Amino acid sequence: MDVSEFIEAVPLPVILVRDDERIAATNRAAKVLLGPGMEGRHYVTILRQPLVLDCIEAALRLREASETQYTNAFSGRDAIYHVRAVPVAEGVLVTFEDRTAMHEAGQMRRDFVANVSHELRTPLTALMGFIETLRGPAREDAEARDRFLGIMEREAGRMNRLVSDLLSLSQVESEERMRPTDRVDVSAQVRSVISSLKPLAEQFGVSLTTEGAEMETIIPGDADQIAQVFTNLIENAIKYGGTGGEVTVCITRHESEPTLRGPAVRVDVADHGEGISARHIPRLTERFYRVDGHRSREMGGTGLGLAIVKHIVNRHRGRMRIESHKGQGSLFSVILPAS
Ligand SMILES: Nc1ncnc2c1ncn2[C@@H]1O[C@H](COP(=O)(O)OP(=O)(O)OP(=O)(O)O)[C@@H](O)[C@H]1O
Ligand SMILES: [Mg+2]
Repeated sequence: MDVSEFIEAVPLPVILVRDDERIAATNRAAKVLLGPGMEGRHYVTILRQPLVLDCIEAALRLREASETQYTNAFSGRDAIYHVRAVPVAEGVLVTFEDRTAMHEAGQMRRDFVANVSHELRTPLTALMGFIETLRGPAREDAEARDRFLGIMEREAGRMNRLVSDLLSLSQVESEERMRPTDRVDVSAQVRSVISSLKPLAEQFGVSLTTEGAEMETIIPGDADQIAQVFTNLIENAIKYGGTGGEVTVCITRHESEPTLRGPAVRVDVADHGEGISARHIPRLTERFYRVDGHRSREMGGTGLGLAIVKHIVNRHRGRMRIESHKGQGSLFSVILPAS
């Protein structure tokens, strides 16, 4: 029986180390991972990591299965392999299982929990501080009490927004694969979002103008989610691009949109504010990413808005484009397939 044929059939990188400590056979996946020309060489010259060497040595000497981890800077990223050395009749069979994705998912989860905790702790610390002050020094001071209660209300509101944004993010993520089927008029949603954001625009001294919002633009969609997309984009344009004085929302219909290769509705939200520098643009849709964290928090932002927008647009099989030049304003475009 030819062992190398069996080894070749295994999708994981596999090497067979004989009892004389030389490599007897390898498969294609192992050659991709460790390089060619291993056969006949001593395993110590190929696998230089002490943990892996110990693992193979233990399996050879004790005739018992042994496991460890192997890291490899593979095509620019750190790959993490779970290594198992198992005694077989001809020696020791060593397999490498790529667990990088699992480690990355674990890291993302830890980062997410750390971010959420941090975002919640800030308002919570403020609330606790004011409660203590109200119980102690400011107990009889009616004016201070009113002011502190106002701040406490704002901080509680921030926590409330954060929790509802988190819920909405997890809902959108869990539905991302289910394409929505209701008939939604994008223009009608945009009109209603604009009328509910009028007070905010006035507060920031911004004039909101629309183009094309009277025509009917039907797409298969989820009305609440479409409204959520434009609420965030227009709200951002007012809050972060408001210094330009004007925010325009332009709706167009395309019989054949090049990127989607089919009928589509496109909405452009443009402001003439400070703009966003190029290095921030690719990261804007990450959870909790804010260009100016301090300013965004002042405005009550959680940094989740664009992450939610991205998931909603993906669920609708659409595209989002961000164009911006520092000092010249920003353009956020959403293209949604119309059938
Ligand atoms: N039109 C814009 N002009 C300049 N910066 C913007 C614009 N839109 C978004 N940003 C930047 O992108 C960041 C992320 O926006 P996002 O909507 O995800 O979060 P947020 O507005 O801070 O919080 P939330 O939307 O949850 O209230 C903002 O904090 C802001 O720094
Ligand atoms: Mg926002």
